[in-house]
Amino acid sequence: MTSPPTDLVHRLRRHRQEHVLTGWDQMSRAARAHLVDQLAGVDLAELDHLYTRRDEPHTALPPRDRIAPLPVEPPTETAVAIGEEALRNGEVAALVVAGGQGSRLGFDKPKGLFPIGPVSGSTLFRIHAEKVLALSRRYGRAVPFLVMTSHATHADTVEYFEGEHHFGLSPEQVQFFQQGTMPALDLATGKLLLEKPGELFLSPNGHGGTLTALTDTGLLPELKAAGVKHVFYFQVDNPLVKVCDPAFVGRHIETQADVSSKVVFKDDPAEKVGVLAEIDGRCGIIEYSDMPPEMNEERTADGTLAFRAGNPAVHCFSVEFLERVTTGADRLAYHIARKKVEHHDLATGETVTPEAVNALKFELFVFDALPLADRWLAVQTTREDEFAPLKNAAGNDSIDSCRRLMTDRARRWLTAAGATVADGVAVEIAPTFALDAAELADKLPPGLVVDEPMYFNV
Ligand code: UD1
Repeated sequence: MTSPPTDLVHRLRRHRQEHVLTGWDQMSRAARAHLVDQLAGVDLAELDHLYTRRDEPHTALPPRDRIAPLPVEPPTETAVAIGEEALRNGEVAALVVAGGQGSRLGFDKPKGLFPIGPVSGSTLFRIHAEKVLALSRRYGRAVPFLVMTSHATHADTVEYFEGEHHFGLSPEQVQFFQQGTMPALDLATGKLLLEKPGELFLSPNGHGGTLTALTDTGLLPELKAAGVKHVFYFQVDNPLVKVCDPAFVGRHIETQADVSSKVVFKDDPAEKVGVLAEIDGRCGIIEYSDMPPEMNEERTADGTLAFRAGNPAVHCFSVEFLERVTTGADRLAYHIARKKVEHHDLATGETVTPEAVNALKFELFVFDALPLADRWLAVQTTREDEFAPLKNAAGNDSIDSCRRLMTDRARRWLTAAGATVADGVAVEIAPTFALDAAELADKLPPGLVVDEPMYFNV
């Protein structure tokens, strides 16, 4: 390729972005092809549109009188048999989002590779994969395991799974797919930022990118053809998540919900979880960073928080609903964030490390799909049994708090099964040993005493 493709040049000119071709003549053939390829995936008209919206509020919440607490169902086991039947029939897939870079954790690999197991040092990915394996064995049907990565985490993640022989899952059962990327724009000019000459600065497009990527990669139609009707969605950072929980999936099916969400009740207004609410009569999630302070503190007559339906980021989507929100007019809209972005300055030829916000980044949020649902369901879950977010190296939602929650739950299951566990001793149960307290009780010898750290594994 000697000169840039004419249609590309026209497209760039039309959107005042031709600066990205600076240095074309000095680029190698491969570098030129790479740049053309990067630009092919960029919707310049959409970026123009987003740039004009840059001063609009991040999330335009309607006034308080159009927002109400969302009714939340108590946990119920009534539909377990329906959920189990769906798992037996291969109608449920598990989807983990693992495209984030885990920068708050101070870990330079994909977060899923973090060794969180309090005794075993098992990684988050191992724990989730073993749950899928245990479910597949229990229900006699391979549960498809969809792992969403980003350009930042993809290669390391795939290499890790391969090196670990997919943790006993069949390679066909595990499907990796990458979320999309979005360029960053210079805040002052709206120009595309470059990472280096001939290379756009790109970031993952937010976990809402999961939904579009499911369709754009052709995975959704493939799953549908294979008979999958529901997708159980969770985040890589929660080792306690009850993957494909049959009681939850069963209620989702029974109520014919487009989307169902688990809820953990929130007592501390400072807790960093989004909150489910009814907004203009529809189900929505208000992210913690967007929550107006007075609503965040509002309490009911009995002293509980008025908006306490915390979001552990566990959802069940019907495949039909996913098809609707990833095609056509219902596609999700980008959130615009103002960030500091280190980039290459074409004028000086140097890397700029900004001291102040200098760029716009764009992200899709998965929960923006919720208001598009016509039928929804919110089910309360027991926080200590199912939610141990790993976000930070220390402090709240830290490595220590996450391991402590894992040990506490294992201890409760062991004690309920008749074992005696000495104080302060770390215990851990591999999902392939027991997926729940009842399975553990079936396997434990009577009168077991645990007085040293123990990993219950097959
Ligand atoms: C998220 C939720 C919050 C919820 C909390 C529960 C959002 C915007 N907020 O907050 O409502 O209460 O989790 O723990 O979702 N990810 C990607 N690609 C991306 C960005 C993120 O796959 O482009 C994944 C990460 O790998 C992670 C998850 O999404 O598994 C959550 O991202 P994170 O930025 O940690 O969200 P929180 O602010 O903790």
